Amino acid sequence: MNKSLRKAVIAGNWKMNKTPAETTALINEMKPLVADADCDVVLCVPYVDIFAAVEAAKGSNIKIGAENCHWAASGAFTGEVSAEMLKACGVEYVITGHSERRTYFGDTDVTVHDRTRAALDNGLNVILCVGEYLEQREQNITMEVVRSQVKIALAGVSEEELGKVIIAYEPVWAIGTGKTATADQAEEVCKAIRDLICELYSKEAADKFVVQYGGSMNAKNADELVDKEDVDGGLIGGASLKAPDFAAIVKAASK
Ligand code: 13P
Repeated sequence: MNKSLRKAVIAGNWKMNKTPAETTALINEMKPLVADADCDVVLCVPYVDIFAAVEAAKGSNIKIGAENCHWAASGAFTGEVSAEMLKACGVEYVITGHSERRTYFGDTDVTVHDRTRAALDNGLNVILCVGEYLEQREQNITMEVVRSQVKIALAGVSEEELGKVIIAYEPVWAIGTGKTATADQAEEVCKAIRDLICELYSKEAADKFVVQYGGSMNAKNADELVDKEDVDGGLIGGASLKAPDFAAIVKAASK
């Protein structure tokens, strides 16, 4: 496996933060700080901030994503947003399967699969999140959990479509807790995900495939994490809400 075959992706996940006016201000602050990045830079923002984000990011190297999408094209799904609607708003990426959606909003491996399918059908890039709960790590079933999440989400996804998918390994116990996985723990699971992609698709597909780490990644620990052979960037929560912190992570991934 060869890290030089892949361009790292640093993506922010703003979660439920920022108004449209704050979005414009934060992206304007970030733009010059990440302008010479040697990695892809994505910001996934709340639905109501998408217009402001797309407008503010115009002409820059920042791409805009959403944090979720529904699996149906349209219909009686109060409060939901379809992949087609996102695409029409200028969105290029969408997160599926985030653990907060799985934990608080009833997402299952099957609905994550369906949301991923809808995103790909609409030409969006997908950041598919997987990861184990603390109890599962303690029971030594991390690999089984992650493998099954990946297999179900990617069922029926062709090798060509896989080019539009990134997987973010986010151990649930490391999210928003300040408790980062060690670089070795992150590498172990990111490598297992790449091995699974090789098993399900091909070595060529696995070599090109981007696997991110997410969970309390910040300006201080980013270097060590992204230096790992199979960690191709990160999905950043809290630290993506501050321009200098996010820019420092982008810099670490640009080496
Ligand atoms: P934190 O970086 O705030 O731990 O969040 C990680 C995450 O959930 C990104 O999707």
